[in-house]
Amino acid sequence: MFYPAIRKVLFQFDAETIHELTIKGLKNTGKSPLNVFYKQQVQDKPVTVMGIKFPNPLGLAAGLDKNGECINAFAAMGFGFVEVGTVTPRPQPGNDKPRIFRLPEANAIINRMGFNNKGVDYLVSQVQAANFKGVLGINIGKNKDTPEENAKDDYLHCMRKVYDLATYITVNISSPNTPGLRSLQYGDALNDLLSALKAEQKILTDKYGKYIPLTVKIAPDLNEDEVKSIAKSLIDNGIDGVIATNTTLSREGVEGLEFGGEQGGLSGQPVKDKSTQVIKILSEALDNKLPIIGVGGIASSEDANEKLAAGASLVQVYTGFIYQGPPLVKDIVNGL
Ligand SMILES: Cc1cc2nc3c(=O)[nH]c(=O)nc-3n(C[C@H](O)[C@H](O)[C@H](O)COP(=O)(O)O)c2cc1C
Repeated sequence: MFYPAIRKVLFQFDAETIHELTIKGLKNTGKSPLNVFYKQQVQDKPVTVMGIKFPNPLGLAAGLDKNGECINAFAAMGFGFVEVGTVTPRPQPGNDKPRIFRLPEANAIINRMGFNNKGVDYLVSQVQAANFKGVLGINIGKNKDTPEENAKDDYLHCMRKVYDLATYITVNISSPNTPGLRSLQYGDALNDLLSALKAEQKILTDKYGKYIPLTVKIAPDLNEDEVKSIAKSLIDNGIDGVIATNTTLSREGVEGLEFGGEQGGLSGQPVKDKSTQVIKILSEALDNKLPIIGVGGIASSEDANEKLAAGASLVQVYTGFIYQGPPLVKDIVNGL
């Protein structure tokens, strides 16, 4: 692998331009012999979580393949599972550009993409075309212009559309870039949403003759009581797993850096300890009643092992992968 040299070239360009070009390249090569440029063997490290058998515990976090266009390519790199999305019912452009910023001094990214995606029908067509046999998470959200009081309908709409294609479905209520979304993490709003999704899961289980687990993705910017209250809602509503965490609004660790003052969610090294802290609180509060998928600042097998030691059963990466590319997948899986 020669990712460091490739990265040097890639990082000369605007982050989103490179992202789009890479997605195009991976989309066109995922199932072809050209995937030899990134395909690699990793050690088998099977785990069973939520009743699903994962070939290894490392997944691609949501947001990189928002439209489900590169599933086979990411699987070829050795990821044990791939989470696509966040997808919304209708296509939407997201926020104005520029909206993604690299902060290499901190191994971090700030983004305010705002759920730019081609809509759930397009994602469904991509997933069908991929004919992927591995573990596929589909992460669902709400459109920006859907009023907060109707958010539930957007999640239900997406859930019905993707149910038959997903191995698990993630309910994203923690992006900082969709106004009002994070308010769904609290109290009655959370219980209302989760109970509606759980009821729909039952209907869909009967309809398709299979039970697809539901996970909820939460923010790192929650105090101990808030995390405990979320844990209680997850247990009370029979949710199958929790993903901790999304990006942070904090700017600790990037003050004074170029782009450190940009609005949006901060990811990578600066969010690492915050995410681990949320996992520790969750782990105690959940008492093994549901599993945790740990994500936030993982850039080595040591970081991944730290998340597992804190109580996670699976882990995911995004920012570390942007900085280190496919070799990171092998390093982490083989080092677990
Ligand atoms: C550019 C970018 C876009 C993202 N988009 C999404 C998204 O659409 N849905 C989501 O649940 N998380 C999204 N995330 C959050 C990541 O999935 C992950 O939870 C977070 O970045 C922390 O992990 P990391 O430090 O390994 O990046 C995004 C992150 C980045 C950097």
